Amino acid sequence: MSEERGRGHGSGKLILFGEHAVVYGTPAIVAGLPRGAEATVEPAEGEEGRLRLLQSSGDDADGAEPAEISDPTVKAAFRAVLEVFEDLLEGPVDATVEMDIPVGVGLGSSASFGTALARAMADLTGAEDRVKKAVRAAEEVFHGNPSGIDQLAAMEGGLHFFRRGEKGMEAAPVEAPTFRVAVCVAGPASSTAAMVQKVADRRSRETDLVGHVERLIGDITRAASNSLTEGDWQRVGELMDINHGALVSLGVSTDELEQARYIAMRAGAAGAKLTGAGGGGCVVAIIPEDVGHGVVEAWSKAGLEAFEVEIGGH
Ligand code: PMV
Repeated sequence: MSEERGRGHGSGKLILFGEHAVVYGTPAIVAGLPRGAEATVEPAEGEEGRLRLLQSSGDDADGAEPAEISDPTVKAAFRAVLEVFEDLLEGPVDATVEMDIPVGVGLGSSASFGTALARAMADLTGAEDRVKKAVRAAEEVFHGNPSGIDQLAAMEGGLHFFRRGEKGMEAAPVEAPTFRVAVCVAGPASSTAAMVQKVADRRSRETDLVGHVERLIGDITRAASNSLTEGDWQRVGELMDINHGALVSLGVSTDELEQARYIAMRAGAAGAKLTGAGGGGCVVAIIPEDVGHGVVEAWSKAGLEAFEVEIGGH
């Protein structure tokens, strides 16, 4: 081993356009968040490796201590990452992961967790070339059949046009001027796999109609890529609204997401939509330059965890 301790970072993400349809090959636009996961790994003190997690965002974060993980899925993802480096290890490994995004609400917590751990393991063992494989192994535990969009954002950050093509992932950076979005956690955590399945069921019952919706989402995403590049935030907002409507038609919105969207629109957002798998989770709103922090304030007043983030910048 090259060092006795390894460290790694993984970015959280926001899907701005195209979730769900992206699973079936239409494009999506994703932004890496400056927030995400930081992992530290080191040879274990005991006979068995331990995984501890520290949640440093949200209401309960202050003064929190890392806690041992009992969730079987998270533990399985940890093991999947370790297995990729197994032949380079002399014994079990202890890991601590600090998350500064809320978990399970569509902000890419699982991919940022896997990426941070994989990078920390690569740092510990010197096997940088195994990071991608290890991230994919963790994502497969969390999601079954992930499109790869979370993985791209977790590893690269930035703003990307993404497509799951016949020959794998295709991605290109979107060169947009800086813009501001606000995000709120509108509903409880939901299962991405369950929401993807819900869309798959509707798709098998209503193949033609859902096919139209997917093509519509693809067209919205392509138009949004141009509008983002031009800095036409009003149009980006309008396209977000239309994309949200399409997601409603796929059956993945909830009362909480609709409420949070209306709050944002009333507070001056140029547009807003659910982001990620839906069924709970987050709303993202685009904030025009001349609007202050009203959207985040309105969400906070309604008791929702909310933050602003700057995206883009050449
Ligand atoms: O895990 P979430 O909530 O960010 O959703 C992932 C986006 C989906 O398009 C719904 C699924 C996928 O694998 O792309």
